[in-house]
Amino acid sequence: MSLFVTFEGPEGSGKSTQARLLYESLHTRRFPVILTREPGGTRIGDLIRRIVLDLQHTEMAPTTETLLFSAARAQLVSEVIRPYLEQGGIVLCDRYADSTYAYQGYGLGRDLAELRVITTAATGGLRPDLTFYLDISAEAGLERKRRKRPVTRLMGQHGIEQEWNRLDARELEYHQRVEAGYRELIAQDPERWRVLDARQSIEALAEQIAAIIEPYLASIPRLETVPLC
Ligand code: TYD
Repeated sequence: MSLFVTFEGPEGSGKSTQARLLYESLHTRRFPVILTREPGGTRIGDLIRRIVLDLQHTEMAPTTETLLFSAARAQLVSEVIRPYLEQGGIVLCDRYADSTYAYQGYGLGRDLAELRVITTAATGGLRPDLTFYLDISAEAGLERKRRKRPVTRLMGQHGIEQEWNRLDARELEYHQRVEAGYRELIAQDPERWRVLDARQSIEALAEQIAAIIEPYLASIPRLETVPLC
């Protein structure tokens, strides 16, 4: 058995912090677990990330943007996610295909049926077992993120990135469409989503996530402890 968990939410929802905390707790308990993120998580994906999020790339066409996110995803699924799941591990991913539906679909108005075709090609149809939605309004999330800028942060093994990106800089209405889009996605597939109030403390959220994930861990064998000689 394996487990594929994704984290979604608007800008500034704190999902990256929660993904990292869950990773650390599972790792400490010796579960086979990796944490990755989109766009990025591979050498090629990180290069695509730079292109797609660069504030200077104002001329990027919506189709280009959609295909770049999908190309980074295709690489991540084939190089990292699928191989780890095939070994029976737990994959935690900070954003995944739902971000494309929410941001490029509902946000930019791209055709959802077309996005589904592109996404299936990119992922080979791989879908998460469980998706946490860190629920915060577009206004409140952007405000949180704005306050943090221009601080940089470390993300996984693949380096440092800029905080305020090309997509953050879009107008509030765009982010409100993204938020409404997430609500549609949740309504279409309520079994998979767990919606959490992102305005709670980091600790309270982490506890809720840990409680939700616990039953899913029963089928995942822990790594052997190597005895010291
Ligand atoms: P990032 O700085 O990682 O933001 P966050 O911490 O909110 O995840 O930037 C990722 C941005 O890319 C974010 O604005 C969401 C956007 N995005 C898409 O528009 N489509 C996608 O398919 C993905 C994966 C991300």
